[in-house]
Amino acid sequence: MHDIIKKATELLTPALVMHTDIIAKRAQGIYVEDINGKRYMDFTAGLAVANTGHNHPRVVEAIKKQADALIHSGCIFYYEPLITLAETLKDITPPGIDMFFFGNSGTEAIEGALKLARFYTGRQGIIAFTGCFHGRTLGSLSLTSSGAKYRRKYHSLLPAVYHSPYPYCYRCFFGQRPETCGMDCYEHLKRLFKHLLPPEETACMIIEPVLGEGGYVVPPMNFLKRLREFCDKWGILLILDEVQSGMGRTGKWFALEHFGVIPDIMTIAKGIASGMPLSAVAAKKEIMSHWSPGAHGTTFGGNPVSCAAAAATIKVIKEEGLLKNAAVAGKHAMKILLAMKEKYDCIGDVRGLGLMIGIEFVKKGKPYTAGLKKIMAHCLKKGLILVEAGVDKNVLRLAPPLIIEKSDLEKGLGIIEDGIKKLT
Ligand SMILES: Cc1ncc(COP(=O)(O)O)c(C=O)c1O
Repeated sequence: MHDIIKKATELLTPALVMHTDIIAKRAQGIYVEDINGKRYMDFTAGLAVANTGHNHPRVVEAIKKQADALIHSGCIFYYEPLITLAETLKDITPPGIDMFFFGNSGTEAIEGALKLARFYTGRQGIIAFTGCFHGRTLGSLSLTSSGAKYRRKYHSLLPAVYHSPYPYCYRCFFGQRPETCGMDCYEHLKRLFKHLLPPEETACMIIEPVLGEGGYVVPPMNFLKRLREFCDKWGILLILDEVQSGMGRTGKWFALEHFGVIPDIMTIAKGIASGMPLSAVAAKKEIMSHWSPGAHGTTFGGNPVSCAAAAATIKVIKEEGLLKNAAVAGKHAMKILLAMKEKYDCIGDVRGLGLMIGIEFVKKGKPYTAGLKKIMAHCLKKGLILVEAGVDKNVLRLAPPLIIEKSDLEKGLGIIEDGIKKLT
């Protein structure tokens, strides 16, 4: 065992799990180099964060320039990068989403969104969807249901939170197939309001527009629209968690654009600042302007260096055509993967939008967790970093940086196919 890993075992909590044993030295673009000089292609983008690629030179330059000038404010004084970022973000969020609160992490954005929803509506009830991941702090954890391991030994969590099944069509909670789908998941949600939570006592519904950690699942096109209509009818706020699906990951700035739905509040993090810690609660001004002074706050949130990195990130995504690249590369990957699905029985489902693609591995219809584990081990040996998703850890999530070139994408998918061949 390398000394660094040995020391990590001694000094760092075992609660924190690393996905690989790689000891990274540097990273550039889609590549990560370890301390022995071995290069890996990172098809995780550092867990859907390095959307512009690792250490994009323009982002690095913005970070250095800002660090030279001003690193911290602690809400003691104003600084230009904060406002530049708010203006830049307003240009890419949907119409009407025009006020922001900046934090440091995804979970902080969720906490802020929940507090804002309760504060604004004066109601307590919260609806979340089974399978979603929203974070690990106690408020966001009350929503997270992508796996019971996150919640074990932490009950009781936030009261008045109710879960309804996420529309995961490949593994429909109601046993339906697309041909027989009557949107039972939506009917179930309506029944929940009849049995458990009066809609007039509900502050918000929160959902990932595309399921991330829960298995990279794209919901049926009209599901989010139905939620929007229900929320409008009852004065419930709709929160879309774009922490993983945002910042170009699906080939659009935000996944919600695929569904034609505008939320009341959205949460953004991960890819926003190319790896610098930053998150945002973004909301309609008519809602967020009611959050009274001191009702929420932060010491580090909206840090000047992170803001500069985020503004540079948005510029890079725009000027280097990364939304288009994500859409085109994603389509190409889907074509290759769907062809693989025809060849290999162990691929049960391939789904996704842009470069947010899930490949679900099965054996006789059951989750094939062991198979995926072997494929991932093969890929790592061959220099390809991957992560899994899904409650059974049988979904391979493809989330490479949005800068990926066709040849690298094909190379990576080829390595995955070799791993599949070794199984059969
Ligand atoms: C959709 C979603 N929401 C929230 C979070 C929490 O983000 P963080 O780990 O930065 O707290 C994540 C993290 O994976 C996520 O995928």
